[in-house]
Amino acid sequence: MNNSSVSLVCYSLLFFSICLSALATEFLFNGFRDAAKNLSMDGAALITSNGVLQITNDSMRQIGHAFFSSRMLMVKDESVSSPALSFSTTFVLDIITYNGSGGTGMAFVIAPFIPLSRVESGQFLGLLSTQNNGNVSNHLFAIEFDTVDNTRKYIDFPDNHVGVDINDIQSVVAVPAAYHTAELKNVTVNLLGGEPIQAWIDYNSAAKVLNVTIAPFMLPKPYQPLISLSIDLLPIFKEYMYVGFSAATGKFTSYHYVLGWSFSTNESAPNLTLSELPLPPRKKVNSPTSRIGTVKSVLVSSLITLVFVLFLFLVSKYLRNQRKQSENLEDWELEYPNRFPYKDLYRGTKGFNETEVLGSGGFGKVYKGTLWHAKKQVAIKKISNTSNQGVREFIAELSSLGQMRHRNIVQLLGWCKRNEDLLLVYDYMPNGSLDTFLFDDNRSTNLSWNQRFKILKDIAFGLVYLHEDWEQVVVHRDVKSSNVLLDAELNGRLGDFGLARLYEHGKNPHTTHIVGTVGYISPELSHTGKATTGSDVFAYGILLFEVACGRRPIEHTAPSTQVVLIDWVRECHTMNKLLTVIDPRLNENYDKEEMELVLKLGLFCSQSIPEARPTMRQVTNYLNGNDILSDDVVFVFSKENSLRLNSQLPYTSSSKDGMSSTSLSQGR
Ligand SMILES: *[C@@H]1O[C@H](CO)[C@@H](O)[C@H](O)[C@H]1NC(C)=O
Ligand SMILES: *[C@@H]1O[C@H](CO)[C@@H](O)[C@H](O)[C@H]1NC(C)=O
Ligand SMILES: *[C@@H]1O[C@H](CO)[C@@H](O)[C@H](O)[C@H]1NC(C)=O
Ligand SMILES: *[C@@H]1O[C@H](CO)[C@@H](O)[C@H](O)[C@H]1NC(C)=O
Ligand SMILES: *[C@@H]1O[C@H](CO)[C@@H](O)[C@H](O)[C@H]1NC(C)=O
Ligand SMILES: *[C@@H]1O[C@H](CO)[C@@H](O)[C@H](O)[C@H]1NC(C)=O
Ligand SMILES: *[C@@H]1O[C@H](CO)[C@@H](O)[C@H](O)[C@H]1NC(C)=O
Ligand SMILES: *[C@@H]1O[C@H](CO)[C@@H](O)[C@H](O)[C@H]1NC(C)=O
Repeated sequence: MNNSSVSLVCYSLLFFSICLSALATEFLFNGFRDAAKNLSMDGAALITSNGVLQITNDSMRQIGHAFFSSRMLMVKDESVSSPALSFSTTFVLDIITYNGSGGTGMAFVIAPFIPLSRVESGQFLGLLSTQNNGNVSNHLFAIEFDTVDNTRKYIDFPDNHVGVDINDIQSVVAVPAAYHTAELKNVTVNLLGGEPIQAWIDYNSAAKVLNVTIAPFMLPKPYQPLISLSIDLLPIFKEYMYVGFSAATGKFTSYHYVLGWSFSTNESAPNLTLSELPLPPRKKVNSPTSRIGTVKSVLVSSLITLVFVLFLFLVSKYLRNQRKQSENLEDWELEYPNRFPYKDLYRGTKGFNETEVLGSGGFGKVYKGTLWHAKKQVAIKKISNTSNQGVREFIAELSSLGQMRHRNIVQLLGWCKRNEDLLLVYDYMPNGSLDTFLFDDNRSTNLSWNQRFKILKDIAFGLVYLHEDWEQVVVHRDVKSSNVLLDAELNGRLGDFGLARLYEHGKNPHTTHIVGTVGYISPELSHTGKATTGSDVFAYGILLFEVACGRRPIEHTAPSTQVVLIDWVRECHTMNKLLTVIDPRLNENYDKEEMELVLKLGLFCSQSIPEARPTMRQVTNYLNGNDILSDDVVFVFSKENSLRLNSQLPYTSSSKDGMSSTSLSQGR
């Protein structure tokens, strides 16, 4: 290899590397953390520890410059038709002022050489000086973001404006800082607002149009530019130029920051990733002359901490509640109508709060609730620990029962299943249940005989509907005074119908498992375990006694002595002293015929042999006076079938005063 070929290789290497550097026409800085090598900075300019480019601090009469170290090819071969290259740049600036009014501004600059010398601070923005201002040999292009009302010589506009400067600090064009919304509304942007501001500068060399656009942080680039200027930059640009920023303070000071920057000699500079941009450091604003400032800032920061902690607390509480309110639906659950979302019921009862409990029966607690969208008060029965096995069949049945409409039954509005809990939603009955009126001595209101008789008729009608008028025979299985609910007008309504079925589904058919309440269970039911309309009639007979006598079916007179109501009434009847059983709280204020009818009907209904009992329809006929209950009726009681002897079978008691049948001893 001879010398010339070595030098040829060197030249081509040199040429190649020049070409390479000329091709590097695009760059992107999402923050400047690692950009110190790529930038030429002078004056007050520096990169903060978190990667923000700070052009000046807020000392007076500072100048700062930061340029991309490599020069940019801005003008191609002069022989082509549009030799000046297009360019495009976007950046985010932030001007932060801590004391006094801010100043004096910053600029995006394209300059023929760096560092910029012969420049002044203050309103010259570190770009020019009184010596060279306006000189065409400056070859200086700048977009200024000026924050000071220059009241002296170089006035281009009142403060807060954006201008295009060509060789001269007096702008070619200057407009108040603003952006255009999609509706073309002109919205002011306060350059001294302390918030980051996005800027886009686009020059199309073919069209010779320069556009300048600004917008608050995070907004998309406005479609309409703030400045659109027809200008040929060819006379201004030299072949290679440096691009960067300049800022200055004067009597007025601000921190001038650039958070991110991209540039391209293409038509569109790469977009910045706004979420990655570092934010400028914030100084605590405390004036040294007053300690109030310190106190204030401490107060403010502790308040902020407090609000934050409160916020975290609320968020975690909300999440916890969401979890509590969530439900794990099984597919089949969607098949059945009238399903309530768990969260509606949860909210409606204030989270199943104890304060909302109306009462608790054998099947579970009953809560008072409000369904907000229906603006309706409801009673929600929460049945816990239901075995999953029977629930599906039960809900299937409930869905059909939910279609029942009768003024003497409590309307079932819907249901909800969540894990092991089954929730049944009923109409709310403002007057509660009959037993509290009959047996609660603290209760001031006493039911008159007329009211009692009416309620008994209501319940009889309700049972006729269940037994005969509904499309299928529904056995209630748990007729008792605590399941007789009273609406606002003291109409009697039967509640909890069909609920006993829940405990029968899925049970082992070989174990007898009677559902009902001690004192209301008919002898045949305790033997066969099979509930029939006849066993409902028996229980209704006991209800008649309760209302007439004002006594519970089984009362404890002493720790080991119970009075069994039915036995007592039968006894009194046998001894022809039936009127002695009448509730003394009625104070003899009752219709004698009606009272006799009720007691006799009670005996008629509670006969040991189911076939001897009337049907519920017959009962309504007697109560309405359509049929006369003959005095000659002989009530069939077999001592052997009496309640006292039903001790062989276990049963589930849904009564609070439930007791084991084996402990029953003879009352009076
Ligand atoms: C900055 O300089 C580094 C090291 O010289 C280089 O690897 C990197 O590409 C430069 N970044 C830009 C945007 O030019
Ligand atoms: C601002 O920057 C200048 C030059 O770097 C420095 O002398 C001055 O102390 C700085 N002022 C503040 C307040 O940081
Ligand atoms: C603003 O405060 C800084 C110190 O935080 C000080 O260096 C600067 O001179 C002040 N500027 C004005 C205009 O008072
Ligand atoms: C413009 O600047 C050039 C070079 O710096 C200088 O020679 C010339 O005299 C200046 N012209 C005016 C009018 O100041
Ligand atoms: C925006 O509104 C201001 C005053 O409201 C007006 O001076 C300015 O010219 C408007 N700018 C544009 C681009 O319409
Ligand atoms: C400048 O803005 C106008 C809309 O006013 C648009 O038509 C044009 O394409 C823009 N030019 C550049 C280079 O962005
Ligand atoms: C932008 O410039 C690159 C080279 O830097 C080039 O490959 C690309 O085609 C240009 N894109 C446009 C739209 O001009
Ligand atoms: C930059 O973002 C704009 C939307 O703001 C989008 O239209 C454009 O395609 C993006 N440019 C690039 C190079 O991703």
